[in-house]
Amino acid sequence: MVYIEKSYTVITGNAKEVLSTIPDKIIQTSITSPPYFGHRIYTPENENEIGTEVELNDYINHLVDVFSELYKKTRDDGTLWLNIGDTYRNNILLGVPWRVALALGEVGWQLRSDIIWYKPNAMPSSVKTRPTVDHEYIFFFAKNKVYFYNPDLIREPHVTFGEKSRMKGGRNHFGKRNGTPENGKNSGNPNLHTSRWDQAFHPLGRNKRTVWEIPLGKYRGVHFAVFPEKLVETCLVATSQEGSLVCDPFTGSGTTGVVAKKLGRYFYGIDLSEKYSQLAIGRINSTIVQGTLL
Ligand SMILES: C[S@@+](CC[C@H](N)C(=O)[O-])C[C@H]1O[C@@H](n2cnc3c(N)ncnc32)[C@H](O)[C@@H]1O
Repeated sequence: MVYIEKSYTVITGNAKEVLSTIPDKIIQTSITSPPYFGHRIYTPENENEIGTEVELNDYINHLVDVFSELYKKTRDDGTLWLNIGDTYRNNILLGVPWRVALALGEVGWQLRSDIIWYKPNAMPSSVKTRPTVDHEYIFFFAKNKVYFYNPDLIREPHVTFGEKSRMKGGRNHFGKRNGTPENGKNSGNPNLHTSRWDQAFHPLGRNKRTVWEIPLGKYRGVHFAVFPEKLVETCLVATSQEGSLVCDPFTGSGTTGVVAKKLGRYFYGIDLSEKYSQLAIGRINSTIVQGTLL
């Protein structure tokens, strides 16, 4: 048996078949982006390439096969972040992301969140009959009802108490036990409620929201669809710990592996293309571990 739990590995091959060779329940979280339906060919003349199917149902079935296998290999408290884009056929939007998300629900993956990845630097388009698309979906799934997720590590700044907010005085009460609006300069105002600031407003910031503004990554020349590191980092920090095993069954240029290594996690990746596997291995090998591995 290959020892993969504490290593950085990228295997060239078909995701479903390669996944079937590793032990069950070893992956903590996966962050991945399969090829989109009918967008491009990564490995010409390879019949296992996903995304090149003629029929949408075949594409969905192939993804279900891969993610069913991944489900078995994921720990009981594990999760999956799936980034997937949509496709137009004859000017009709197919709704591919949601079709895939619901199909994965049928094979056990529990859908927890649909996140909009808003790309402020998305490519302009020449369409004149509809708005230009500048977002994609990221679906967050858990294997079970109880799973590893740390909301405190990905909190956002409170907007309610920003400089321009009429409630900015509330900041003084953050984290103070029993701090309430009535304790401040508005004490006695009958319009104020009696809830505690320290409970309503977490001192580390508000809970992560479902629209993530993240510009496209800088490695766009080497592969068609490179993840921005910030996107991977957000997912990874919330759903894994130092020493966890992180997977990407559609590794591409290896961004998930690079971020995993930077943050002291281990990585198991797969890509059908030898060229991309080598590219990913090169990127991961030249990345320095920044966490303190056990
Ligand atoms: C959208 S790209 C992934 C990009 C990646 N997130 C990155 O940051 O570079 C999808 C990848 O899936 C690979 N692929 C296509 N069919 C596959 C299959 N059956 N098994 C494994 N990989 C496959 C393609 O070669 C391509 O590199």
